[in-house]
Amino acid sequence: MNTTAPPASADDRWTRYWHAPRLASCGPADSAYAGPIAAHWERLFLRGLRPGQRLLDLCAGNGAIAVLAARTILRRKKGRIRIDAIDRAAIDPLRFLELEAPVARQIRYHPKTDATALPFPEATFSWVVSQFGVEYAPRSAVVAEALRVTRPGGRLHFVMHAREGLLARQAERERKEAEVLRQAPFLVRTREILTQLKAGHDPAGAQLLLQALKAEIERFLTSHGQPVNPQMVRHACNLCLHTASVAPHFPLATLLAKIAELEAELDAHAGRLQDLLAAAVSQEDLARWRADLAAHGAVRIEMGALRVAPREALVAWTVDARKQP
Ligand SMILES: C[S@@+](CC[C@H](N)C(=O)[O-])C[C@H]1O[C@@H](n2cnc3c(N)ncnc32)[C@H](O)[C@@H]1O
Repeated sequence: MNTTAPPASADDRWTRYWHAPRLASCGPADSAYAGPIAAHWERLFLRGLRPGQRLLDLCAGNGAIAVLAARTILRRKKGRIRIDAIDRAAIDPLRFLELEAPVARQIRYHPKTDATALPFPEATFSWVVSQFGVEYAPRSAVVAEALRVTRPGGRLHFVMHAREGLLARQAERERKEAEVLRQAPFLVRTREILTQLKAGHDPAGAQLLLQALKAEIERFLTSHGQPVNPQMVRHACNLCLHTASVAPHFPLATLLAKIAELEAELDAHAGRLQDLLAAAVSQEDLARWRADLAAHGAVRIEMGALRVAPREALVAWTVDARKQP
C-alpha cells in the first residue's frame, strides 16, 4: 500500500510548522537564535517604539517579533500598541500559544496573507518589521508593498538570513540530516516488520522482529555519528519503535499511517530548510535591497550585521530605513 502523501507546498510546510506551540522558526532551542536576535529587537523597540503606534510584522509565523514588541511596550513602557502580524501560511497562533491576555489583545493575526498584497491602506503603520521573513518573498514587490503601508517618516526594519551566516550553515547540515533520515533503512524495515507482525506471529516471533528493528536503528545511529538535530533523530527512531511495539493493538492501516506521517514530517522539515537556503541573502544581495528600497521611497537606509559571541560569527543581515517624510 502506498501511504506517502503528495509533496506539500511551502505554505503547507509552514502551516504544519506553526500549528504547534512554538515561536522560533529555525535552529535548535539552544542555538544562538533567541539570545542575540531578541536582544537586538528589544534594544530597537526600547529606543524607538512608542505607545499608540501601529506596527506591522511581515511573514510573522506565530509572531515572534509581534509578541516581543507587545511585551516590550506593555512591560517597559507601560502602554499599548496595535500590532498586525501577517503570514501566507494558515497561521492560528492563539490556538497554539499560551499568550498572556494583555499581549494577545495587542496583536491581530492575518493568516493566508501575502506580504506582496497587503490588506491595509496606504500609510497605515509607523513600523514595518520582519524577522527571517521578507527575504522569502519577491524582493521588489515586498519592498514596494512594505513602503506603501508605511507612514511618511515611519520605520522599516528587517532581520534577514545571511547566506554566509551561522544559521544558514546549520540549516544546510540539518537539511542533509533530514534527507538521510528520510532514506534510513530502519524506516523501510519498520514498514516490513509492521506488515509481518500483523500477518500473525507468536509472542516469541514478535519479540524477534522487534529486536531486529532495534538492531537496525542501532546500526543507523552508530553509522550516522553526532546528530545535528538530536531531537529529530530521536523522534524518528522512537516513533518507529513505539509503532512496532503497539502493533498488536491497532489495524495495519493505522500503523502504516503513523510512519507515513513521520515521513511527511521529515519531508516538510527538509523542505523548510531548503526554502531558508533559497531565501538567504548574500552580502552582494544587500546592494539590491538598498536599490529597491531607495527606488520605492526609502531614505536613511542602513545595512548591518548581527553577530554572536564568542567569535563574532555572522548570524543575520539587518536593514533599517525610513519612509521619506
Ligand atoms: C522563517 S519563517 C519566519 C517567521 C517569523 N518571522 C519568525 O521569525 O519566527 C518565514 C515565514 O515567511 C512566510 N512567508 C513566506 N513567503 C511569504 C509571503 N510572500 N507572504 C507572507 N508570508 C510569507 C512563511 O509562511 C513563514 O511563516
